[in-house]
Amino acid sequence: MESESLRHRMVDRLIADHKSQGRTLRPEVEAALRRVPRELYAPGVAVEEAYENTAIVTKRRDGEGLSSVSAPFLIAEMLGQAVEALDGLEGRHVLEIGSGGYNASLLAELVGSTGSVTTVDIDPEVTGRAATCLAAAGYRRVTVVCADAEHPLAPGRRFDLIIVTAGAWDIPPAWRDQLTDDGVLVVPLRTFGLTRSWALRRAGRALVSQSHRQCGFVSVQGDGAHRMRYVDVADGVHLRLDENQQLDAALVADLLSQPGHQAWAGLDLPPRTVLADLDLWLATRLSGEGSQFVVLTAQQAAVESGLVAPSWRFATPAALETGALVYRSALRWRDRRFDLGAIAHGPDREAAAGRMVAPMRAWVEAGGPPPVLRVFPAQTPDGELPDGTVLDKRHSRLVLTFTPTPEQKGTA
Ligand SMILES: C[S@@+](CC[C@H](N)C(=O)[O-])C[C@H]1O[C@@H](n2cnc3c(N)ncnc32)[C@H](O)[C@@H]1O
Repeated sequence: MESESLRHRMVDRLIADHKSQGRTLRPEVEAALRRVPRELYAPGVAVEEAYENTAIVTKRRDGEGLSSVSAPFLIAEMLGQAVEALDGLEGRHVLEIGSGGYNASLLAELVGSTGSVTTVDIDPEVTGRAATCLAAAGYRRVTVVCADAEHPLAPGRRFDLIIVTAGAWDIPPAWRDQLTDDGVLVVPLRTFGLTRSWALRRAGRALVSQSHRQCGFVSVQGDGAHRMRYVDVADGVHLRLDENQQLDAALVADLLSQPGHQAWAGLDLPPRTVLADLDLWLATRLSGEGSQFVVLTAQQAAVESGLVAPSWRFATPAALETGALVYRSALRWRDRRFDLGAIAHGPDREAAAGRMVAPMRAWVEAGGPPPVLRVFPAQTPDGELPDGTVLDKRHSRLVLTFTPTPEQKGTA
């Protein structure tokens, strides 16, 4: 009884959160969440804790989370993306990458008796626990496999939906090739150091985004692992670099100790404006000749001491230029509306801060366009890529644009 009432309370909260963001929790996702007891997938965790809206870390190495039962809000968002993109999951064949059992049992509810769910994890400890928990909860039809999902599971096997529940840096060919012709891949993918859960529909050799959500996940391990690196710029302040980025740490070492310059975009935005899309827009505008886009992270103490005033201390868009470090600053509120700004340090601070607020204004003037992501195989020649910002990974060429296209269905 306690489990049931806690579960309903958790779902009621998820519905309210969706509403406050102007979205609706899909009724079939709601029904599945109301049915599956989350505590059965987190043995040893108090039942109250099992229904908190956070991830439950089940395995760590050197302080870093390797496996977890994902947070309910994230699971609800990603299942919602999948259900929307495929217009329901009943009878569908689904591959989940990254096991735990909870999400697999929700998927089993969604596909029903005519569909199938296979879940794969690289870690035998995780698959062992998932298989035990799924059996104990009565989801015996879910197939649990231990393998590195970078590679195809079984030759010729295809799925209507592949849902990845670990943070990826690239899209290996196996994920596209295992999709049915118009199958959907839902994947938390890092572009420019910023992770979004993208729902991508297969279109021949390419994938085209249908929707995206801001998110964070434990990283993919195995052959597709890509480490992020952190460079210290001051006590408790770091720049997060993607594996392929080079940075001379000596050049940035004392930039933050130099005076800062704050610039404002001069905007008057309503409280509900979602800024995650702006951050990707900035990434595409601030990468190039003489400017390297990076992500700034800061500890609470560094913010409280006034050393930095970032927009979001866990991931703030920033750029490193010759003679300046510039980042998106905390919002300025007036009469329940807000303005966007940038702070720059270094000899060229005034111009650098101006160079960051200009694209902020441009994004708002363009109506706050959402990003569209297209994924092509790595060997695709330049001439065959659409216009947009190209990001080359090991297996794929990603193209980001900010104009919705006719093939883009659903919300972005
Ligand atoms: C956040 S957990 C999965 C959560 C789970 N889906 C749930 O129901 O809550 C991420 C999992 O991805 C797994 N993983 C990471 N890299 C992988 C890979 N290359 N192939 C398969 N599994 C992988 C990790 O071992 C970890 O257990």
